[in-house]
Amino acid sequence: MSSPSVPRSPAGHPSPEPDGTGEPSARRPGRRAFLGGAGLLGAGGVVGGTAGVLVERAAGPSTTQRDRTRALAAVRPGTIHQPGITERSPAHLTFAAYDLVAGTPAATRASLRALLGAWTRAGGDLMAADPPAGAGQTALGLAPSALTVTIGLGASALRRAGLAAAIPAQLAPIPAFAHDQLDPARGDGDLALQICAEDPIVAAAAARYLHTRAAGRATGRWVQHGFRATAAAAADPNATPRNLMGQLDGTDDPTPGTAQFDYAVWAQGTPAWMTGGSYLVARRIQMLLDRWDLITLAGQEKVIGRTKVSGAPLSGGTEHTAPDFSARTADGALAIPANAHIRLTHPRFTDGVRMHRRGYSYDDGLDATGQPDAGLFFLAYQTDPRTAFTAIQTTLDRADALSTFIRHTASALFAVPGAAPRGGYVGQQLLES
Ligand code: HEM
Repeated sequence: MSSPSVPRSPAGHPSPEPDGTGEPSARRPGRRAFLGGAGLLGAGGVVGGTAGVLVERAAGPSTTQRDRTRALAAVRPGTIHQPGITERSPAHLTFAAYDLVAGTPAATRASLRALLGAWTRAGGDLMAADPPAGAGQTALGLAPSALTVTIGLGASALRRAGLAAAIPAQLAPIPAFAHDQLDPARGDGDLALQICAEDPIVAAAAARYLHTRAAGRATGRWVQHGFRATAAAAADPNATPRNLMGQLDGTDDPTPGTAQFDYAVWAQGTPAWMTGGSYLVARRIQMLLDRWDLITLAGQEKVIGRTKVSGAPLSGGTEHTAPDFSARTADGALAIPANAHIRLTHPRFTDGVRMHRRGYSYDDGLDATGQPDAGLFFLAYQTDPRTAFTAIQTTLDRADALSTFIRHTASALFAVPGAAPRGGYVGQQLLES
C-alpha cells in the first residue's frame, strides 16, 4: 500500500511550554540563525569551503557536495511519518528507553499525554535547529546535522495508562530465542527516543534536553549509543556503510518512496492510531570479534554469502546484483551456502517479507570477560514484527552461520506512531480518541 505524503507543520509549538525548570521561556537565536549568518548552510560556507574541496579531490568523482551539505542541514518534516525512518542515517545515534513514573491509569495517561506533547514540541524545535532557552548551549556553533527525533511507545506504556485494549497485535512480545543472552539491565521500556545526528554533540545535546522534558513523568531505563560512517569521511555519503565485521551492511534494503518500502515498513490497517507509523525492533547484538578475526576471509564471506570488499553475492556480479541461490562452485557446492546469512534472510526464503534495517555500530569497551563489547545495535522498522523480525530471527537463531560469531544481548519493541498532527503531538490519536 502506498502511503500518502501530506505536508505537516514542524510539530506545532506556538509557545514554549512552562517546563518547570525556572528558565526563561524567551528564545535566543538558534543554531540555524547562527549558521545562516555564518554562511555555513549555503555554498561557500564550511561545507563548500576549502576543507570540503580538499576532501572532494581526495575522494574521487563519486563524492557529491550536495550529499555532504545535506548531511549537515536540518531535516524538514513533511510527511505523515515521523522523521528518522526514511532519511539517510546520520553518523551518530543516541537511543534512550524510558519508563513512566508509576501512578493510577488515569494519572499515567495524563502524564503520558504531557510527556508526548513536550517531546514533540522539543523535538520539533531541536530538529529545526531552533532550541528553546532550556536546551542549554551544548550544540551552539554546530550545524543542524540532520538531527532527527523519533518517538516510540512500548506495549507496557499502554498497559500502564489503562489502554491495554488499544495495544496493537503487532506489539506481541518478541519470544525468547535459544541463543539469546539478554541482559536484564537493558531492553524493553515504556517509551523510546531514537535520536540521530551527523554530529555527536548535536545528538547528545538533544538527548539531554529531551531527558529534562521527561522529569517527573518518566525515568531513564537504558541508553545505547551508536555510530556509522560519517558523510565527511565517506567517499560517497550514500554508499552502503560497513559494520564492525567489515561487511557492507544495508545492501539489500527496501528503497524509501517505493511501493515495496511502503508495504514492508508502514503500519497497515488497524489500529487507526498507527496510521503513518511503523514498528521498531531494537536488538543489541554483540559481535564476537576475536573469534571472527580468527577465520579466513573466504570463511567470513561464506558466513554472509557475499564478498567482503565489494559486497557482491558469492554467485557473482557486483554489490547490487541479485543473488543466484542455485549457483554452484566448480566442486559442486552451493556458491551461497545453505546456512549463509543472506540466504536465510532473503525474501525468497522468508515468504517475501522485508524490513527496513537502520542499525548502528556500537563499541562499549570490554565485557565482563574482557572480550570486546562491540557490535551492531540492530534497528529495523517494519509493518508487522510477528511476520518480519520474529519470523526471520526464528530461522536465524536455528540455522544462521553468523550465530557462532554474535550474541543478542538486548531486545525491545516499540510502536512508532505517525507524525504529530498540525499543532498536536505524536500519539495524540491514541490518547484522545
Ligand atoms: C550482528 C548481526 C548481523 C550482522 C553482522 C548482519 C549482517 C548482514 C549483512 C552483511 C548482510 C548483507 C548485506 C545487506 O543486504 O545488508 C545482511 C543482510 C540482511 N540481514 Fe543481517 N546481519 C545481522 C543481523 C540480522 C538480524 C538479527 C536480522 C533479522 C532478524 C537480519 C536481517 C537481514 C536481512 C533481512 C538482510 C537482507 C536480506 C536480503 O534481502 O537479501 N540481520 N545482514
